[in-house]
Amino acid sequence: MTRITFDDVSHLDEQDSLAPFSARFDIPDGLIYLDGNSLGCLPKAAKDRLNEVVTREWGQDLIRSWNSNDWINAPARIGNKIAKLIGADDGEVIVGDSTSINVFKCLSACLQLDNSRTTLITETGNFPTDAYMTEGLAGIAPDRIGARLVDPDEVIDSLDETTAALLLTHTHYKTGRLRDMAAITSAAHQKGVPVIWDLSHSCGAMPVDLNACDADFAVGCGYKYLNGGPGAPAFTFVAKRYQEKVFPALSGWLGHKQPFAFDDRYAPAPGINRFQCGTPGIIGCAALEVGIDLMLEADMQALRQKSSALGDLFIQLVNQECGEFGFEPACPINAAERGSQVSFHHPDGYAIMQALIACGVIGDFRAPDILRFGFAPLYISYRDVWKAVDILRDVMSSEAWNQSQFKQRAAVT
Ligand SMILES: Cc1ncc(COP(=O)(O)O)c(C=O)c1O
Repeated sequence: MTRITFDDVSHLDEQDSLAPFSARFDIPDGLIYLDGNSLGCLPKAAKDRLNEVVTREWGQDLIRSWNSNDWINAPARIGNKIAKLIGADDGEVIVGDSTSINVFKCLSACLQLDNSRTTLITETGNFPTDAYMTEGLAGIAPDRIGARLVDPDEVIDSLDETTAALLLTHTHYKTGRLRDMAAITSAAHQKGVPVIWDLSHSCGAMPVDLNACDADFAVGCGYKYLNGGPGAPAFTFVAKRYQEKVFPALSGWLGHKQPFAFDDRYAPAPGINRFQCGTPGIIGCAALEVGIDLMLEADMQALRQKSSALGDLFIQLVNQECGEFGFEPACPINAAERGSQVSFHHPDGYAIMQALIACGVIGDFRAPDILRFGFAPLYISYRDVWKAVDILRDVMSSEAWNQSQFKQRAAVT
């Protein structure tokens, strides 16, 4: 294979139609940030918007803001914006709570769709919260509800007339492996099973077309590729055909059809609003809306094309420059089967990642041995990829990673 040169890489940057977006983010000088799949960068506009929300809307307008600044409709308004990114219609997405909580809402909704179906299925190796939520829900009524973890290659075979829901992550958090949403949804439907898609590592990283796939339910994080800020509110998608059939298990007052009637009895709001629970975090919503508005300006096909090209380049350069250092791919090599991240196994992965971070290349580590690098196409350039691999080669060839300070495990890896 011909060697890739810095000139080749610079040429790719010159052709990149998404390149102007990076100036709209606050990225520390000299830092190469390959962790947008964990916490997205700060959109510059978020600072002014948050200042306005805090000083004027909260500080001056106070409680009046629920009406005058339309705080009350933020979850549905921002949900409609996310809907455009994931192939959903207006009124099918609501923002709020965490992805974990929203998984619970969807699982419990599925249990209501057909009382004879009582088993919740997810796969081994899925992001833990998804599996944990099936266990927690089954624990409410262990003699009625079951939670099963099945092998990733056996998910469809495991479905039967007792299955209430199949919960899968679209882009795997460790390996970046992409699931075929249309094929799996269709196969599950043939067995009468609704699918809940966790889009945490897909939304904002690639085009997603939920309704074209006849999807049932979906959830996802706001703080990753949507650049909504640490702990940003998550989202829930419920296809219109199910919304009126669900009496939410998390029947909080803001999901009531008339919250300000303060009735003693719960009556669900029409449509997606019933999947709200309590008071939305308005500061978090405001930051998230800035990130989504920015994302909506980008062409999603161009975004996917660049994300694939950045990942391909990284894999090729690691082979070319770091071939002798023992990195084994932990992700699909074929970009069509991969989300917007690349991961490698290495027995010293934790220490190597800490040394890279100390040298200004931020990725992360996932036990037991995975170095994970995310490529957020709105602010990562092809030259960033070149520089990151250059620094990785230095860290490896100098054995800089082999120092005790890089081996101390921090609480967050
Ligand atoms: C696939 C996936 N699902 C769910 C979550 C957890 O989301 P939350 O902490 O918002 O509940 C994460 C977090 O990284 C994730 O990667």
